[in-house]
Amino acid sequence: MTVQVDLNGLLAAAVGAGGLAAEELAGLEPELARVRDQLAARRAAGTLAFAELPHRLDDARHVLDVAAGVGADVDTLVVLGIGGSALGARALVSALGEGPGRRRVIVADSIDPDAFGTLLGRLDAKRTLFNVISKSGETAETMAQFLVVRDRLLHELGAVDYKHHLVVTTGAEKGVLRQIVNDEGFRDLVVPDGVGGRFSVLTPVGLFPAAVAGIDVEELLAGAAYVDERARAAAPLADPALALAGALFLLTTRHAKPILVFMAYCERLAASADWFCQLWAESLGKAQDLTGRTVEWGQTPVRALGAADQHSQLQLYVEGPRDKVVLFARVEDHGVAVDLPTTYQDLEGVGYLGGHSLGELLNVEQRATELALAKRGRPSATLVLPAVNAFTLGQLLYLLETATVAVGALAGIDPFGQPGVEEGKRLAYGLMGRPGFEASRAEVEAWLARKDARFIL
Ligand code: PA5
Repeated sequence: MTVQVDLNGLLAAAVGAGGLAAEELAGLEPELARVRDQLAARRAAGTLAFAELPHRLDDARHVLDVAAGVGADVDTLVVLGIGGSALGARALVSALGEGPGRRRVIVADSIDPDAFGTLLGRLDAKRTLFNVISKSGETAETMAQFLVVRDRLLHELGAVDYKHHLVVTTGAEKGVLRQIVNDEGFRDLVVPDGVGGRFSVLTPVGLFPAAVAGIDVEELLAGAAYVDERARAAAPLADPALALAGALFLLTTRHAKPILVFMAYCERLAASADWFCQLWAESLGKAQDLTGRTVEWGQTPVRALGAADQHSQLQLYVEGPRDKVVLFARVEDHGVAVDLPTTYQDLEGVGYLGGHSLGELLNVEQRATELALAKRGRPSATLVLPAVNAFTLGQLLYLLETATVAVGALAGIDPFGQPGVEEGKRLAYGLMGRPGFEASRAEVEAWLARKDARFIL
């Protein structure tokens, strides 16, 4: 059950001048070897925490223990979190978490009053567990959700029982949420040090909701560990994550492909596409390189879903600007057979479908799209999953995380910070009146005052 990366569609042999010459990729091998050594040195120094997650089996066991303590009366888990504190859990649960007899897991990353209010209105507090997730323990959206939920639980369930309906996942020491946990004694899980939100899917951030949904979290980690072991045994260009990183880096920097479309041909992977888009955007979109030089680096990720987006976005990708590379996710065995009946055999326009299956048609559509792009000189690569299960999903997520970090190293940027996001957080704190952020508030007010009424139409 190995997830494979097929780079053929990126090569000039497949797409002509729009693709990479095989020699060009081979020419990057020394640089990839340098990246590999650099990442290995960081691991040895303990400063590449995400890379070690597949091997933190004790953490997974602890998550399983806490999940086992969730009462049989609880039928719904609601995750309160945003960004990296929401998208990983959603990716896991929507790929693997739904089925008869499973607990429902809802990832509530919205503070839209209508959406959040409607969700709360639908839930039975007695049967719901809320998992508040914030690594920093400070994010306004998540803290606001927490305040609303805590208040409601307190009123409905009383001062003793309400605590049984909250589990908090946050950093070990810092942040106001940690302080609240320590003061009020909520059940808690720890986000390991040095693992940022978008790299936290294999920490309790993703694993606890997954475990509550009945997903085999040890198998997820086994899949990730398998990718790690495969990489150690291979030359840089035979390591799927490094080779993918190298190819995408070359296409971005030398072949003017500033847009990466992640197109999953499997609805169970649609949320993984969202997760990947955040990972790629927030990790690689950086103003400065590691030397402080202004580079404004990045490749814009776009999420697409096959086959629906063949009838929506594909026209642009095939005939529009040659600024994109497509990364397909293809699943060989969809696990559910929906056969197409052999009716209307006398009508050629529909009869040909009979005897095939929906999964077959979906995969044929992916192949057809790959070739339609190639024929117009548009490069693509394909992530091939034999099936969607915990082992292959663990592989996919870890492979994409590793590729993202490797592109960061090739570009000479830090994939782990997010100063642009922090800026927005500070301005919002200021506007909401948080002490210490008065200057941020003044900045927004000055900006609003400069608006010219003539252009507000
Ligand atoms: O990937 C990231 O670091 C961000 O998207 C964060 O996950 C997001 O901003 C939420 O932060 P926190 O988990 O601290 O509430």
